[in-house]
Amino acid sequence: MAPTKTILRALAGETLPTPPIWMMRQAGRYLPEYRATRAQAGDFLSLCYNPELAAEVTLQPIRRYGFDAAILFADILLLPQALGADLWFVTGEGPRLSTVQTQADFDKLGPVEDIHETLNPIYETVRILRGELPAETTLIGFAGAPWTVATYMIAGRGTPDQALAHALMQENTPLFEALLARITAGTIDYLYAQIEAGAEVVKIFDSWAGSLKGDAFQKYALEPAREITSALKKKHPDTPVIGFPREAGYNYIGFARATGVDCVALDNSVSAQWAAEHVQVDGCVQGNLASSHMVTGGQGLVDDARAIVEALSNGPHIFNLGHGITPDADPDNVQRMIDAVRGH
Ligand code: CP3
Repeated sequence: MAPTKTILRALAGETLPTPPIWMMRQAGRYLPEYRATRAQAGDFLSLCYNPELAAEVTLQPIRRYGFDAAILFADILLLPQALGADLWFVTGEGPRLSTVQTQADFDKLGPVEDIHETLNPIYETVRILRGELPAETTLIGFAGAPWTVATYMIAGRGTPDQALAHALMQENTPLFEALLARITAGTIDYLYAQIEAGAEVVKIFDSWAGSLKGDAFQKYALEPAREITSALKKKHPDTPVIGFPREAGYNYIGFARATGVDCVALDNSVSAQWAAEHVQVDGCVQGNLASSHMVTGGQGLVDDARAIVEALSNGPHIFNLGHGITPDADPDNVQRMIDAVRGH
């Protein structure tokens, strides 16, 4: 049966008169209602693991703006935690994890079969959302791509250049590849469970794909995305997959064909015109408005949003930012973006 929800229609390859729209990190600290619910939960991780409150923050941007999709409220670092890593968040700094740098560190991780013990509350959030979302809103599940997740597990934190992960790749390739394989297998099972709980689309976030060059991009960004997508398609052929190899540059070309993803999410380092010629030729694209416009607003926001809609109007397109909205964004600018896209 042909899909009726706008996001699913775009993902099936349909060119729509107005692109459907949602926003990376749409549930987040720029919204006062999010900050209130997070305070009620206690902290960020308690919010992720509280299905009622996680569903509530997922729904907040849908109520406020009427986005065409909701993205499950969770985090890419819950999977490493479910695999046995320690995880905590330092206020104002970001995530911290126990590190995986030696065989002994790796041996402490648990088996993939055990992840659901930790992740069951996330599946419960998905079930609640499927009951509560408006009929026209698509629910997106997600996971981190193996390389991006590995960069956090190896360094124990976010890093500007992913240097420790690159060093492990060079100095102990078998260990690096074993870690990537464990994350890949865990990601497949995690996404199966999200789909079985009711996620209608899944997105794979490879936020640090841009630091992989040449062969390394093929082996550690493209190949895991292909492996995950093909496993998902075997079991759930009708669930679309969005890939986001952020800052892949010319490696965006052919990524959908090589991996089997139904849509490629674009950062804002490529122009929409270039993406129309080189990426959208293979199917749906999503992105690529600079998230800084959500802070600065004004005519620049309206002009850039319209230019992206125009450049990508001859093929399937889902409007989005090039990366997540930041905590200093003005909620009114989000409405300006939506109005510009929907032509008010
Ligand atoms: O609305 C949504 O997008 C849904 C939920 C979501 C979060 N993180 C919630 C979150 C999603 C899809 C993510 C993905 C994620 N998490 C990525 C990939 C996308 C990207 O941004 O590149 C990455 C790399 C992470 C890891 C992560 N989580 C970091 C580095 C941080 C700290 C930096 C920051 O922005 O504070 C987080 C925390 C986090 N994840 C927050 C939210 C709303 C902020 C936490 C808070 O409320 O204090």
